[in-house]
Amino acid sequence: MISGGVPLNGEVRIAGAKNAVLKQMAAAVLTDEPVVLRNVPRISDVTILAEVMGDIGFELRGSGEEGNGHTLEIRAGDAPWPFVPLEAARKMRASFILLGPMLARFGRVILPNPGGDRIGRRPVNFHVAAMEALGASIVYRNGYYYASVPSSRLRGGHIRFPDVSVMGTENAILAATLAEGTTVIENAALEPEVDDLIALLGAMGARIARTADRRIEIEGVDRLGGAEHTVIGDRLEAETFAIAAATTGGDVTLRGVDPVHLGAFLEVSSRAGVVHETDAHAVRIVGSASRPLVAVDVATAPYPGFATDFQAPLTVLLTQAEGTSTIHETIFEDRLDHARELARMGAAIEVLDERRARITGPTPLHGAEVGIADLRAGATLILAGLVARGTTVVSGVEHVDRGYELIEAKLVALGARISRIEA
Ligand code: EPU
Repeated sequence: MISGGVPLNGEVRIAGAKNAVLKQMAAAVLTDEPVVLRNVPRISDVTILAEVMGDIGFELRGSGEEGNGHTLEIRAGDAPWPFVPLEAARKMRASFILLGPMLARFGRVILPNPGGDRIGRRPVNFHVAAMEALGASIVYRNGYYYASVPSSRLRGGHIRFPDVSVMGTENAILAATLAEGTTVIENAALEPEVDDLIALLGAMGARIARTADRRIEIEGVDRLGGAEHTVIGDRLEAETFAIAAATTGGDVTLRGVDPVHLGAFLEVSSRAGVVHETDAHAVRIVGSASRPLVAVDVATAPYPGFATDFQAPLTVLLTQAEGTSTIHETIFEDRLDHARELARMGAAIEVLDERRARITGPTPLHGAEVGIADLRAGATLILAGLVARGTTVVSGVEHVDRGYELIEAKLVALGARISRIEA
């Protein structure tokens, strides 16, 4: 429940990146030595993946139990039960990231067709083709992928992704680290989360290099060892707080995030009139009630472009900007659901087709009862509630907990009037 209209001020510590840590947990499968991850966000996606990995037979310690909630130690001894349950995969598409490391280390795994956010079809054909290029056999039957390695070990191969895929690239890298020979990945993703995974794998002994634009080469090694690694800050959480500051006319410093990772967002928000300052590990966002925001046209793109995950939250800012803005979602075909709920709060937002929306502003938003079963769309409705006059009730916040650590506590610390209530 949110009472909107309060400018947010102060500092917020940005958590470790969800889309980095999940892949790094999977990387721990590649060795029987301990992998220690620091700056692990306390979010439910981490809990779900930890449960899945525990069920497979791995040991996971930390995050919570020992008073130090942001460190996770994983030791992947043996895998007596190489199986991902349907329930976990339904909740979290990222469970599919276990495909590559399980094949590379144990030569087999059974995974369900994954679910996750309802933001489009989200097939896994790139992942399957990449594993096949490394010599794996994958059979799809009754909703499950049965993956195995017919020879004793994966072998290096040539992978060219038809479209840029973040997790596809990561699965291919993870699988290739222990394959025999060299793997070349073309049209690879450039997201900072991919590079953070490469950094951890390098510390574990993997030989991975970006050798040209969107090209990665991996020389397989016989074994990998343990390592310690600190997860990068979450650029998507940072963007959410940046918009909260800008739209409420506040002044918020985001600590623990690399401003370079927010480059495309900061470029767009500057064009919209939001003032910011950066140093090496922080970004200060200065909103102002006296300086009008202006409309912008934005198209999403793979990194270093404007992330698809930035898109829905930005919409809230655009409802407060002078003129007509357009959003073109190029990555997923069904990621404009929040438009309907924002319209119920007073936004002048028109969905032109499944990938395009037009927003005319500024329009005052008013409180309403809203909700969407999706992570970024849920965060978007919270942002709208912070700007709206009156009281907004957002339902389904468990979807927001998948990727944001204690979002309401962090907002309260900045002055917001928000509390979690039982439905
Ligand atoms: N695609 C295919 N086949 C595949 C894989 C992808 O056609 O086998 C298509 C997708 O349908 C999409 C495009 O390729 O049109 C790009 O998808 P990508 O594979 O890059 O997405 P992802 O790796 O599954 C990650 C993030 C998403 C983020 C996207 C795009 C994780 C766990 N998830 O998903 O994050 O939106 O990259 O940057 O890293 C979120 O955090 O809320 C979230 C949805």
